[in-house]
Amino acid sequence: MRRFVVIGQQATAAGDFLLIDVAGTSGRLDVLLRCLRAALLVSHGLRRDTVVYLVLLGGPRAPRVVRFDGSAIRFVRPDERSLGVMVQKALEAGLEGCGFVEIRSGLAVAEGGLDAVLADLPRAVRAVEAPSAGASAYVLDEGARDIRDAEIDLREPVFFVGDHLGFDDGSRLLLAAHGVTRLGLGPVSVHAEDAITLVCNELDRRGA
Ligand SMILES: C[S@@+](CC[C@H](N)C(=O)[O-])C[C@H]1O[C@@H](n2cnc3c(N)ncnc32)[C@H](O)[C@@H]1O
Repeated sequence: MRRFVVIGQQATAAGDFLLIDVAGTSGRLDVLLRCLRAALLVSHGLRRDTVVYLVLLGGPRAPRVVRFDGSAIRFVRPDERSLGVMVQKALEAGLEGCGFVEIRSGLAVAEGGLDAVLADLPRAVRAVEAPSAGASAYVLDEGARDIRDAEIDLREPVFFVGDHLGFDDGSRLLLAAHGVTRLGLGPVSVHAEDAITLVCNELDRRGA
């Protein structure tokens, strides 16, 4: 299973954004929606081997995380508006519980930020408990060692991606404390969704 974790520094954790102006009313949730499409959808299909976490750190309802599980989710359309509707419904569902609470098959919400994601990862990639397995977790970071020269553990890789603002200091510190490996994608800083596409392509080529 591949995992992508996209951290939205200002992306709203409430469902009260306008679908006709997502970019202007949601703390740039549109960036995360495009990341979702890039990670989960291929031409005429879904990547069933992929889980995407959208970490929403913006607004008074923050932090919250929306999780999409490609193995279980259905009726996902590639346009930003449809994806926005899904996130909005998830955020407005009002379900409460411990950890990730399933709204419908493959779609779940958790209270919390990066900590909620780290707690949800398979034990093998939780470096704090299993430091030797920490190499399965990667943070996409400009200027880091190129992915083409890096060994990637193809079994359970998890990739952390910044939004249009990059990473906030708290997230950087937490990821560093977990021993997450930094990976670069070439000399140009690309949009977050394009960074995900590059990683997907690299994993596809390696047969993951
Ligand atoms: C638009 S970029 C962030 C730009 C932001 N202004 C900054 O300085 O961090 C969004 C995210 O995509 C990923 N990314 C973009 N280009 C990359 C590259 N060349 N190498 C590695 N990661 C990259 C990183 O995770 C980055 O935080």
